[in-house]
Amino acid sequence: MKFLSLLLTLLTAAVCAVAYTNPVVDASTPDPWMQLWNGNYYLTFTTGGDVTIYRCSSLTNCHSPASKSVFTPASNTLYALWAPELHDVNGNWYIFFAAQDHNDNSDNQNHHMYVLKGPASTAAPDSDNYSFVAKVSGISAWAIDGTVFTLNNQLYMVYSGWPAGDTSSLNQHLFITQLSNDASGAPTVGGSAVEIAAPQYDWETFTDSGGTKHAINEGPAFLSRNGFNGILFSGCASWSSCYSIGVLEFTGSDPMSASSWTKWSDRWWQSNPNGPYGTGHCSMTTSADGTQDWMVFHATSTSYTGNESGTPGWNGRLARTQIISFDSNGKPVGGWPIADGSTQGDPA
Ligand SMILES: *[C@@H]1O[C@H](CO)[C@@H](O)[C@H](O)[C@H]1NC(C)=O
Ligand SMILES: *[C@@H]1O[C@H](CO)[C@@H](O)[C@H](O)[C@H]1NC(C)=O
Repeated sequence: MKFLSLLLTLLTAAVCAVAYTNPVVDASTPDPWMQLWNGNYYLTFTTGGDVTIYRCSSLTNCHSPASKSVFTPASNTLYALWAPELHDVNGNWYIFFAAQDHNDNSDNQNHHMYVLKGPASTAAPDSDNYSFVAKVSGISAWAIDGTVFTLNNQLYMVYSGWPAGDTSSLNQHLFITQLSNDASGAPTVGGSAVEIAAPQYDWETFTDSGGTKHAINEGPAFLSRNGFNGILFSGCASWSSCYSIGVLEFTGSDPMSASSWTKWSDRWWQSNPNGPYGTGHCSMTTSADGTQDWMVFHATSTSYTGNESGTPGWNGRLARTQIISFDSNGKPVGGWPIADGSTQGDPA
């Protein structure tokens, strides 16, 4: 009996440790944000009309997730909800997302960052609905993809915004603002924002079929590990296979100073030449035991130039995940995604 149960335990361990394949979801999950809580993985992503949390079976298996729509805006209030991110701040779950306060999808000019409040973070992030708190104050210009993180004991938001005075919708830079609490204790108060990155390399730009150049830095996600601090961000066009991830390393002392951030010249993560393609908008998480760093990002199984009419490159963006290692200098090692369907070792 004892031998049998030992055998069963070993067999189960062997089966569980075997492997996974990408993608880890079955349905479209653009801008995937993965949050680990109490051994479970919770995924948020752009649905457009609401904020939905998927509870995945594991980091590498989100094929039949429990799903809960935790926030649907009242009619005629917010539109085009993009890139919701789940964060534990001050012992509570908050979701940060971008939305328009006008129904003007044609010009996208009213996207700003908003905050939702959920349950206390002693409970699962999908254990209750989320209530609307406020627009993040202090950011006057267009803003999307805001992510929050603590650095030197201060909470910051980094977001993708239009440069001052530029409403062409062709240029997106990265900005940082300090985030503090409103009277209710919710982190909604931004200070004056500082630009910390602008597209400066060819890989960050895209020329469309009309010959117009788009220069885009967006989708920031903070990575802090063993002395390395930096922002992984996406460059080029999200509707093209050129969509890639770059690194903006924190090399100074004051996060609010542009000179404290150093952009790596080469893209760090890009399409696999044989697919998947258009890899971007990542989030960072760890194996359930905390020992390994894993990146979750979206990609497409079809290649797109970005010049196709109707931007089909925005369809079929599914979440993939992959382990990230660090080199002997402590820098994250980039590359490209494993081929879809190719089996890889599961997280620790
Ligand atoms: C959340 O909202 C839904 C829809 O309004 C409601 O049915 C449900 O009872 C609410 N509460 C929880 C804990 O899900
Ligand atoms: C898209 O079309 C423009 C204009 O013809 C061209 O310059 C650009 O290289 C094309 N992009 C790709 C990725 O094919």
